[in-house]
Amino acid sequence: MNDIRLPPDFLWGVATSAFQIEGAQREDGKGLSIWDTFCSQPGRIKDGSDGSVACDHYHRYREDVDIIDSLGVDAYRFSMAWARVQPDGRGAWNEAGFGFYDRLIDALLEKGKQPHLTLYHWDLPQALQDEGGWLNRDTCQRFADYAQEAAHRFGTRVASIATHNEPWCTANLGHGTGQFAPGLRDPAAAVQVSHHLLLSHGLAMRAMRAQNQPAALGIVLNQWTADPATDSAADHALAALEYARSVQWFMDPIFKGRYPELALRHHGAHAPRIGAGDLEVIHQPLDFLGVNYYFRAYCSAEQPPRQAPCALGRTDMGWEIYPQGLSELLLALHAEYTLPPIYITENGMASATPRHDRERIDYVRAHLAALATAIAGGVDVRGYFLWSLLDNFEWDSGYAKRFGIVHVDYATQQRTLKDSALWYRDWIAAQRAGRAAA
Ligand code: FCB
Repeated sequence: MNDIRLPPDFLWGVATSAFQIEGAQREDGKGLSIWDTFCSQPGRIKDGSDGSVACDHYHRYREDVDIIDSLGVDAYRFSMAWARVQPDGRGAWNEAGFGFYDRLIDALLEKGKQPHLTLYHWDLPQALQDEGGWLNRDTCQRFADYAQEAAHRFGTRVASIATHNEPWCTANLGHGTGQFAPGLRDPAAAVQVSHHLLLSHGLAMRAMRAQNQPAALGIVLNQWTADPATDSAADHALAALEYARSVQWFMDPIFKGRYPELALRHHGAHAPRIGAGDLEVIHQPLDFLGVNYYFRAYCSAEQPPRQAPCALGRTDMGWEIYPQGLSELLLALHAEYTLPPIYITENGMASATPRHDRERIDYVRAHLAALATAIAGGVDVRGYFLWSLLDNFEWDSGYAKRFGIVHVDYATQQRTLKDSALWYRDWIAAQRAGRAAA
């Protein structure tokens, strides 16, 4: 494993998202988002916590940019809280909110770090939810207006703008299982929402393209391979369906202009209502594709289902550690689609170890090795963003799950670099110097 080499101009980064770190949920004119509402509903968040303070990044962003700088990364991926810059999701812009992102972007640029902006990391303005949220087709146009304004203001200073982060989660966890905000449990709604998210992506791409700015434009999808547990026909069928419903469901409309037949048939009466021309709007050239990879899907049709072998163990989330899934996924995507450059926009692990997180180093290194395999196989991967810079608010798990390479003491807001942060810094330096990193 000592001779893993990524290309010399490979981009190294760390990632976060607004709701998970910023806090300051009511400051400087910010509107509430569906995650504020969700957190206030008893039983939704496992430790009963919320995002009101989180990592207090809104006030401590300078210190955090210094930490980013000390790691020697090239780039920082973060998201903008829509309700901070447009409290109601329509109408007037909140200059104080934009001011925060202005200062953050400036601070990054001063240190020579590329800002990579995500527009929607799950925190819809509550005012739009009150009008139906992503079930309401009009929200797509609201999102396009927001995207246009963001590109107009920041398109010359950020390196990239992604429309959505993981629309699979917004649709299925937000509207199908109810695990995430807004907490709906309605399978048909989840499918319709997934279509509206894709449509909003397409409308936003058009609106941003019209701004003619240098920022690269794309989307971030969470993806996995779907492996049959056994050679049985039933397991193979289940795996094919899982891949169609999760990966191809988002990839096909974007890159082929149609939904996958297998998944459409499966959805049956729950198939989305698609307006005339929607698929042309969705099917637009991207400058990059962001891929978030954490685990594979292990598909067993037996009852009870067979469990994944977990030869390399599980993370603190209970997720199987399966690095080879990353190369398999990328090679499969490369074989099936004509792709723009890919960035791994998230990858990392939850671990309770406060300081000497050897297991996180092993996790990241194994996934980078898998990435090198995919690149050797012809996949055009340009960069890697480790999730996450800081321990943070891990959605329905609250603060109980820690993904950071930097430890956060939530009582004092003290940041302490874990071993993985120091390792990542040294790894990047070694890769840049063309040395094989340990
Ligand atoms: C992804 C999310 C990110 C974080 C990681 C662990 O699904 O995009 O915000 O929660 O999982």
